Formats: sequence, C-alpha cells, structure tokens
Amino acid sequence: MSDSDSKRDLMAIDDVSDELAGLIDWGIDFKHGSDINYDFKPLDGMSIGSIYEKPSTRTRVSFEVGVSKLGGQPLTLLSNDIQLGKSESIADTAAVLSRYLDGITYRCFRHDDAEELAKHATVPVINALSDLHHPCQAAADLMTIAEHGESVNGHIAWVGDGNNVFHDLLLAGVALGHDVSYATPAGFEPDESVMSRARSIAADTGSSISGSNDPVETVSGAGVIYTDIFVSMGEEHVEGKFDAFRGFQVNEELVSHADPDYLFMHCLPAHRGEEVTDAVIDSPNSVVFDQAENRMWAQMSLLTYLCNEAAWHTYRDLG
Ligand code: CP
Ligand code: NVA
Repeated sequence: MSDSDSKRDLMAIDDVSDELAGLIDWGIDFKHGSDINYDFKPLDGMSIGSIYEKPSTRTRVSFEVGVSKLGGQPLTLLSNDIQLGKSESIADTAAVLSRYLDGITYRCFRHDDAEELAKHATVPVINALSDLHHPCQAAADLMTIAEHGESVNGHIAWVGDGNNVFHDLLLAGVALGHDVSYATPAGFEPDESVMSRARSIAADTGSSISGSNDPVETVSGAGVIYTDIFVSMGEEHVEGKFDAFRGFQVNEELVSHADPDYLFMHCLPAHRGEEVTDAVIDSPNSVVFDQAENRMWAQMSLLTYLCNEAAWHTYRDLG
C-alpha cells in the first residue's frame, strides 16, 4: 500500500550492500535485547504476505514469528491455495496483493518471477529464495559470523554447488570485507553475472575471491566452511548432478585443513551423510542452529528497513 516510487525491494543481497553492516548490527542489537524491544512495533497495522512455491521450515516460521514480534500481521500464501500460476498472472497478483498488503515475500522457482512480482507490486517485495538468490539467508549468515567478532578469521570457504545460497553469501561476504574462496565440481560454478557483481564489490572493499575444483585448497586456513545440499529444490530432475559432487563432502579430514577455530555453516536443511557428516555438523565448531535463529532477527531488521525505514533509523538511534 506504499507509494511505488519510493518502495524498495530485496531481490539479492547486493540491493542493500551499502546498508548491510548496519542491517546486521541492528539484528544483533535487537536479538540481544533491550527494554525498547518490547514496545518497538514498527509494523503495527501492517500486513505482510508470504507466497511459497516450494517447501520451507525456517523461512516460513521466521517470517511469521518475526512479523508478529514487530506488531504486524503475517499471512502465508501457499501456491496450491492461490490463483497465481493457475488462473492469474504474476502482474495481476502483484497489483491485487499490493491493495491489501504492506510487503510481500516470495519463494519461487524462477528468479525472473520474483523480478516480475517486484516490478508490478507497489509494496516492497523480498525474495525468500529463488533459483538464483537467497538474500535473507546471507543476511543471517553474515550476522552469525559477526556475532563471533574477531575470534573468527575473515576467510569464508564454500564447498559444493555454486548455487543460490552461495551467490548471496559471496555478495554479502565481499561487501563486508571478507575473503571468499569456493570449490565446486566442474560445470557447477557460480553464475557469471553474479560473479561479475561480486568482483565489482570486492574491488571497492579490498576483498579477494578465488575459485577452484579443489576442496582442500579452498578450505586451507579458512575461518568459515560453508556447504549446502548438492541438489537444490527444483533440480531433482538434473541427471547425474548428485554424482558430480563425489569428493565434495565436508568431513573431519577436510575440516582439518581449516583454521582450528573455524565455524561450520549450512543454511539447512542438511542431508547428513551426503554434503556433511554428523561429526562435523554436530561438532562444537558448528553454528548451524544459530544461523537458523538469526534468520528471524536479520529479517526483522530487513522488514523494518524496507517497510518502515523511519522506524528502522529511530531504533538505531535509540539502541
Ligand atoms: N534455509 C532455508 O531457507 O530453510 P527453509 O527451506 O526451511 O526455509
Ligand atoms: N540451495 C537450496 C537451499 C535451501 C534452503 C535450495 O535451493 O533448495
């Protein structure tokens, strides 16, 4: 219901590169609480709708609870239950929902569909995972790394698919001055247009980016090791994809090459025994459940910033 000229969307994390450090600090401050939090209801009177074309545990629950904590009304719109994709276009859906809602989150198969929804909506649209980007995950991940402060070295190593989660981790990581290395099997490298944006941000922040097909080289000395499932939602039909990742499991042998105080990260859900072993994901180095919790706090910061920016600044000044 906002003025379309001034509304801002979050399609990828580099849409908020300039404010990313502040958005993360806000999430950390809010998480660790102050008396202000209980009375701070920047979404009071607002309704935020969330469309899901794919399953979700973390994104759905963290948005529903986070919107409620901020005083707003969350609505979850499962694709089977709405007209979108059946008898109504994305453009018409965007126009209609903008008459009821103050913000829309959208988990979709095709990133172009998220862009289309954002183009036709007059309220902020947040990408809640597309085939190309997962910006809310990256905000929570960089928040989790920031919570560890100087105790973790700034080298983030990715092992696995050059996918949606990696794209935003890379964009956010270099925006905040981290060095990022990645190892993917040949043919599963990150998207070239995302790489080009990341290189441009890294040139400004002084971060380095390096890619290879060698997990050991990639994790050597790393402060963070991150992996994700090998076959993402919607890719189950890609012939032979799983087999291409032989040798890319994060296990005790691989992590022995990292900094001893490394953090193990995973967006979850994890396929234990495939991309990561129980010994690693259940080790004291693992922060996967902190990441899951931080989805909510980071999204609360993003929602406030995108739907009520004046209140976001007010909290920063008070916090
Ligand atoms: N990490 C993540 O987005 O989890 P869900 O698919 O459960 O939302
Ligand atoms: N890359 C995974 C992330 C799930 C949160 C997928 O897209 O299925």
